[in-house]
Amino acid sequence: MTLSQGAEMETFYAHTPVLADETMDFLCTDTHGVYVDATLGGGGHTARLLDRCSADAKVYGVDQDEEALNAACARLDHDPRFRPVRGNFEFLETLLPSELHGTISGFLFDFGVSTHQIREPERGFSFMHEGPLDMRMSALTGKTAEEIVNLGSYEYLRDLLYQKGEERKSREIARSIVASRPLRSTGDLRKAIEAVVKGPHTIKSVARVFQAIRIEVNRELEVIEHALEQSLRLLKTGGRIVAISYHSLEDRLVKNFFKSGNFQGTVEKDFYGHPMTPFRLLTKKPVVAGDQERSLNPASRSAKLRAAEKIVEGGI
Ligand SMILES: C[S@@+](CC[C@H](N)C(=O)[O-])C[C@H]1O[C@@H](n2cnc3c(N)ncnc32)[C@H](O)[C@@H]1O
Repeated sequence: MTLSQGAEMETFYAHTPVLADETMDFLCTDTHGVYVDATLGGGGHTARLLDRCSADAKVYGVDQDEEALNAACARLDHDPRFRPVRGNFEFLETLLPSELHGTISGFLFDFGVSTHQIREPERGFSFMHEGPLDMRMSALTGKTAEEIVNLGSYEYLRDLLYQKGEERKSREIARSIVASRPLRSTGDLRKAIEAVVKGPHTIKSVARVFQAIRIEVNRELEVIEHALEQSLRLLKTGGRIVAISYHSLEDRLVKNFFKSGNFQGTVEKDFYGHPMTPFRLLTKKPVVAGDQERSLNPASRSAKLRAAEKIVEGGI
């Protein structure tokens, strides 16, 4: 990549990090530590973290999206403390060098898609732009959105829209998708939804359907579960996880895991009735953006930040 391409990419990728001050306050407990930004994106949070850290700190930045990684590298590669890693955070234990296991001071997860991914029509994430039905966050991922909407049965689509989009009109929309096949573009999918959902809230249904399909394409919930479990094992005692979620399904996983160390949220008790949980909860309620950030950065409006500190010795 040439310098000017790097600069272009960097501007194109410009992504204002959400809840940046709050994230740093929870995350950065040791300025000499080793940190992992598991959702590097354009590198907004990582840049802030590097600003807070000393010369001997290290920040590993993981992203499965090659374009995101290139943009972050164009911005941060000059800094010897920054280590880019391409891969899915589902495999953190294999992506990170084994000598770091059990030594990490903090993990950051800023879930979802970046502003850039949304803005690029050919990625197929946005219902605002005409584009192919892709929605893969990485070219290494299997199924596309097109395969899901054209090959899934009515029952499969109905359940998908209900469970992963929390869409009440899942039956009608699934039926309309099946009747409108073949669907080739984001516009085709939007039309199939708008054929059966009318009125002022139509756009919310469209957003929920796109969300459900994106979650399915990228196996987002399953991947988050694996990543949270692994980060707990990789953290040192006293290390922290900060997670920013953008919809209730993600937030529920994080909330339950931080409360109990499992995804059901069931706190087990020891022989004496003391709760056994691997974490000290740092946020009883999720932290949300203030009015000023919400007006300046629309991406922050649905963000919920939760943080927890590992209190158990070793892995669990
Ligand atoms: C909201 S953006 C992060 C933005 C970043 N915090 C910043 O300030 O620039 C989320 C990023 O996480 C990446 N991502 C999502 N799921 C991932 C996964 N399973 N493995 C690795 N990266 C993932 C996306 O490709 C995207 O670049």
